[in-house]
Amino acid sequence: MADQTTYLMCPPDFYDVDYVINPWMEGNVHRSCKSLAQEQWQGLYQVLSQLAAVKLISPVPGSPDMVFTANAGLVLGNTVVLSRFYHPERQGEEPHFQAWFEQHGFGVKKLPPEIAFEGAGDALLDRAGRWLWAGYGFRSMLESHPYLAKWLEIEVLSLRLVDERFYHLDTCFCPLSQGYVLYYPGAFDTYSNRLIEMRVPPEKRIVITEADAIHFACNAVDVNGTVVLNRASSELVARLESCGFQVIQTPLTEFLKAGGAAKCLTLRLNETVAPQETPVTRVASRTITLTGHLVDSNLLSDAVDLIGEYGGSFQIVRFALGETRQSTSTVELSVSAPTEESLLKILSDLVDRGAQIKETTDLNAHLEPVRQPGVAPDDFYVTTIYPTTVCIEGVCYPVQNQRMDGVIAVRRDPQGQIVATCKLIRDLVVGEEVVVGVAGIRTLHQPNKEKREAQEFSFMGSGVSSERRVELVVEQIAWELRQIKERQGKTVVVAGPVVIHTGGGSHLATLIREGYVQALLGGNAIAVHDLEQNVFGTSLGVDMRRGNPVKGGHKHHLKVINAIRGYGSIQKAVEAGFITGGVFYECIRHQVPFALAGSIRDDGPLPDTEMNLIKAQEDYTRLLKGADMILMLSSMLHSIGVGNMTPAGVKLICVDINPAVVTKLADRGSLESVGVVTDVGLFLSLLVQQLHRLDIPYHARPMAGTTSP
Ligand SMILES: NC(=O)c1ccc[n+]([C@@H]2O[C@H](COP(=O)([O-])OP(=O)(O)OC[C@H]3O[C@@H](n4cnc5c(N)ncnc54)[C@H](O)[C@@H]3O)[C@@H](O)[C@H]2O)c1
Repeated sequence: MADQTTYLMCPPDFYDVDYVINPWMEGNVHRSCKSLAQEQWQGLYQVLSQLAAVKLISPVPGSPDMVFTANAGLVLGNTVVLSRFYHPERQGEEPHFQAWFEQHGFGVKKLPPEIAFEGAGDALLDRAGRWLWAGYGFRSMLESHPYLAKWLEIEVLSLRLVDERFYHLDTCFCPLSQGYVLYYPGAFDTYSNRLIEMRVPPEKRIVITEADAIHFACNAVDVNGTVVLNRASSELVARLESCGFQVIQTPLTEFLKAGGAAKCLTLRLNETVAPQETPVTRVASRTITLTGHLVDSNLLSDAVDLIGEYGGSFQIVRFALGETRQSTSTVELSVSAPTEESLLKILSDLVDRGAQIKETTDLNAHLEPVRQPGVAPDDFYVTTIYPTTVCIEGVCYPVQNQRMDGVIAVRRDPQGQIVATCKLIRDLVVGEEVVVGVAGIRTLHQPNKEKREAQEFSFMGSGVSSERRVELVVEQIAWELRQIKERQGKTVVVAGPVVIHTGGGSHLATLIREGYVQALLGGNAIAVHDLEQNVFGTSLGVDMRRGNPVKGGHKHHLKVINAIRGYGSIQKAVEAGFITGGVFYECIRHQVPFALAGSIRDDGPLPDTEMNLIKAQEDYTRLLKGADMILMLSSMLHSIGVGNMTPAGVKLICVDINPAVVTKLADRGSLESVGVVTDVGLFLSLLVQQLHRLDIPYHARPMAGTTSP
């Protein structure tokens, strides 16, 4: 190749806006003026001819965009990576460009047909030839970048485009001589902006405004210090001049109608590359398999959204669609991300949604030993509430004690069998092995459709039918409670002090007395106010029958705490006859175990309140084991704690007056979650009413909803 800077251009003989493949073309179909386009193209050609050599390719009828030669391919040295156009409208250009390159002595590299790449429009060489900036997101695919690195022996830095108006990298980014970069940050995602900032020092970054960007100021050709472009504001011209550039503005408005300007109309044919030690790309890829009701559960679309959110890209390798409503579908996706780190984030989120990661060489989970008590190896896999299996030595083992936010510890039992258990980080011991990364892990995920449908009933809402809807859901809960009781299952109640303040205490006591509750979890306050109500008839000093504060009532709870402390425990106070009724009285009388977890807000505390939080969490976990249903009654703190400890498959009923709390708990991806937005006292009263109704023979029952709460 000649040393003189050389460009390839294509006369606009057949140029027009014939179709719409970018936002600039919208409303401009057949609206470009042919003579003006010729004139403007000639203007650019003349400018460039004075600064560099310009070769021409003959235009072809039916390929109006061939005028944008930047998209012919990417040339480095004697090699050209030919474009694979994303839109069929431009694919007809490919053979013409290929023929031209071959006739002019270039070695032509062609990407696999499924990988789109739009040449120098999306791949811009750093002007010192140190690396290649490569765009993706709209036209070129991330998957093309490893090919560029390998074939052109150059480091590739992947930049993700996020603004449709700037669909090619050269519409919003222009590397200039002396290490300068002219760019519009709004066109890139955060990661890409950070990458630009890491590679280009602040004094070399020429950031342009949106106003300049939409006049295609970045779509510029830098011919050895002379920047040729459509139009730039006086501020931008001044900035470029202060950096030592000469600016030539040559109007190209007719081409803007198709989404291109100076840079798009040219392809540099002799790029200089600095010798590279090792050509690298950070792009990482893996194949994953998703199985399940992919379409109707939205799992596939969620996975695709997630890949996009992390700046990744995907290709469908295989898709087997389930043919009937019951049958499952399987899709194999090749997922790519700009870095290994972002790929791991994508994969770990996909595994949490039920994907299986398929390593070509290794299906097994990766294990690393614990080296410090209570500290997991870096990169440990974080567990979810969903049943999980882990593949070790080619065999899949179910993970025991599934819970959220744990790690998977693997050990051999005395018989030499592999056991995988969900553990908290703090419980890890030196020597045991922990799963790291996401390979070999599979979660059985609850379809999202059902998660979305996890019902949320509003009693306080303005809808006329809401009261009736709460009655219906309470009817259903009562029926299930009754079923659990009859089959001697387990219902655990988590409750906050609001239960007592709202007058729900007597109803909860009834549920315990009648055998509907097998364990009670709470904090100091629910016990304090329940006992206060029994001793003084007040809750937080408020008379529970009249609803008004009692003189000196604010001291009641402290007096009760003190008295129970004197007895040594709630049980001893009940046995001594000091406590004669209420929630905790019924727990003691009916041997329903309870755990009270301490908190910083607690007065006293009661002797039964466990102030060692690790011990309290263990008590909760023990009592939750084997639960069929958990009733979470107006305690955000304890309910969220319990939610994290509970595996999927346990029915959660969350009752709170605050919809945000209900949503947070019901949104755990569990089919079994039901949120009820209502007053907890009212809920409990309705629940007891419904349970008692179920005691009446069917033919003698009043119609549901005829009793108002
Ligand atoms: N005197 C004490 O020792 C004392 C007093 C209060 C709280 N605490 C402690 O503080 C911690 C947190 O207490 P918490 O669970 O009460 O608070 P929390 O903030 O975690 O939860 C209270 C929940 O009740 C909901 N709520 C309020 N009114 C309601 C109604 N009428 N019907 C339904 N839901 C309603 C709120 O929206 C909230 O989500 C606990 O450990 C508790 O023991 C101690």
